[in-house]
Amino acid sequence: MQQALDRLAAGSPRSGGAARALAAVERAFDRVFAAANPWHHLGALGFFFFWIATATGFYLYIFFDTSIDGAYRSVDALTREQWYFGGVMRSLHRHASDAMVVTVALHLVKELASGRYSGFRWFSWLSGVPLLWLLAASGVGGYLLVWDELAQFVAIAVAEWLDALPLFSDPLVRNFVQPGAVNDRLFTLLVFLHVGVPLALLAGMFVHIQRVNYADVTPPRALAWSTFAALLAIAALAPAASHAPADLASAPQALALDWFYLAPLPLIYALSPQAVWWLAAGATLVLALLPFVVRRPVEPVARVDIANCNGCARCFADCPYGAVVMRARAGGRPGRQHAVVIPALCASCGICTGACPSSTPFRSGGRLVTGIDMPQQPIDAVRARLERALGQLTGERRVVLFGCDHGAAVAGCAGPDVAVFSLLCIGMLPPSFIEYALRHGADGVLIATCRRGECAYRLGNSWLDERLAGGREPRLRPSVARERVRLAGAGPGEEAALASALAAFRVALVAMRPNPPRPSSRKRSGLALTQQETG
Ligand code: HEM
Ligand code: SF4
Ligand code: SF4
Repeated sequence: MQQALDRLAAGSPRSGGAARALAAVERAFDRVFAAANPWHHLGALGFFFFWIATATGFYLYIFFDTSIDGAYRSVDALTREQWYFGGVMRSLHRHASDAMVVTVALHLVKELASGRYSGFRWFSWLSGVPLLWLLAASGVGGYLLVWDELAQFVAIAVAEWLDALPLFSDPLVRNFVQPGAVNDRLFTLLVFLHVGVPLALLAGMFVHIQRVNYADVTPPRALAWSTFAALLAIAALAPAASHAPADLASAPQALALDWFYLAPLPLIYALSPQAVWWLAAGATLVLALLPFVVRRPVEPVARVDIANCNGCARCFADCPYGAVVMRARAGGRPGRQHAVVIPALCASCGICTGACPSSTPFRSGGRLVTGIDMPQQPIDAVRARLERALGQLTGERRVVLFGCDHGAAVAGCAGPDVAVFSLLCIGMLPPSFIEYALRHGADGVLIATCRRGECAYRLGNSWLDERLAGGREPRLRPSVARERVRLAGAGPGEEAALASALAAFRVALVAMRPNPPRPSSRKRSGLALTQQETG
């Protein structure tokens, strides 16, 4: 059992069936949506829909009459008399709220299927759980304000549900079954709740992203505009409308439920209020305990070598999880600092090693000791393997393939003319290693990244792109022949796509002149300088 849990917890996208299925979904979405793929920005879309619901909610509030007689009338008047704007605002408010449920549900499923809930991610996961309740409460509260037959049903169902708990001395439901029991004060309370609960949701959303550096809270422009246009189209096709006014003297008949928020309410009658409490509490408990029950094998965290740290803070800037802080150097000149890793926050991704200026393989001396390194894959071991591999490569065109433990497996591409390396994350690759390989006998360097927007550690792909494009330190030097460096996006299970990218790269390299190894400033091993017999 524990073994099965550990396997599940290992969560390597490469191994899990669920993650492979996810990769297939991503591929399909990528084909349809290209740069505006919502699948890569579900959390950001959650924020986006929240802001739309907030902005439209403010507008609705201006016209809302907070009274038993005025609530229905004011909402209905806004919908009918101001259909061209007020009506659209109401529809946007409703559909954005529904869309938020969908994106948050998909976000949860995606994180779960990717195994991103335990280990250092426990906080992100656990802080997401109360958001589900707050989101549900925000939506249900909104339906009460309309005070139509649907609101009447919602009020009675929720009251009966709450009455199943020993909270109130008088049954709450009594307030909604006797004509005259509902008064203006109740509407003031409902408005207060419908503002207060979403505010608590917003506060929770900010807490939720506290441990995520550069959180993706704004969808790319193309996605934002196309999503907004889709909401407008839905508002035109299915405008939000009220039922008949609430009448406590009679029971509501046919109701059009909003299944995104109100689906659990019929269950209260189909099962029982107690059963729905058990289901809701059970699901919450399972979600909340998941990170602590399903444990991830503990990975060694990044380690700083103060003697090789110059305090440049690149690791601090690039860490996706805020696990690096800069501290004043003891006994050093004022302003001098060094990096410190907070182990509890570290994802063991190695992106900091890729960022460190000391991680250059051109450094002379025996061992390559960098400022911040990964004990499970020290940068010195990567250089040593690269040197060995470059010395052994044969064939017409020699390729070094760098990949990542979380993307397509690179092992299958290895051959006499292809040396493969699987790093902890592709963001761990210092660009100087590319130059080093090209200077020491490789004709080309292929870099297998995860699919765009799906880096297991969020930012590895982006930082690599920026470093290669010269927009982020450490940069790939402009003197490096760009045509000899190629990126291939290949997620878990996409080994065939990686193999075709490699084949295409080989063809391109054959069309180029061989790449003669050049003398290196690093004299240590004299490696690859023997590799003169390029095809
Ligand atoms: C209102 C609801 C929610 C919103 C708006 C939201 C938004 C976000 C955002 C913006 C991020 C950062 C994404 C990135 O930059 O890579 C994030 C991360 C995350 N969320 Fe949520 N989230 C919500 C609910 C949830 C729920 C219900 C769960 C699960 C129970 C969850 C689990 C996670 C996890 C595990 C991460 C970290 C992912 C990583 O480390 O790669 N979220 N969320
Ligand atoms: S990137 Fe390297 S040198 Fe710069 S602060 Fe971090 S550990 Fe120190
Ligand atoms: S290994 Fe990753 S999470 Fe840990 S300090 Fe380095 S960049 Fe940050």
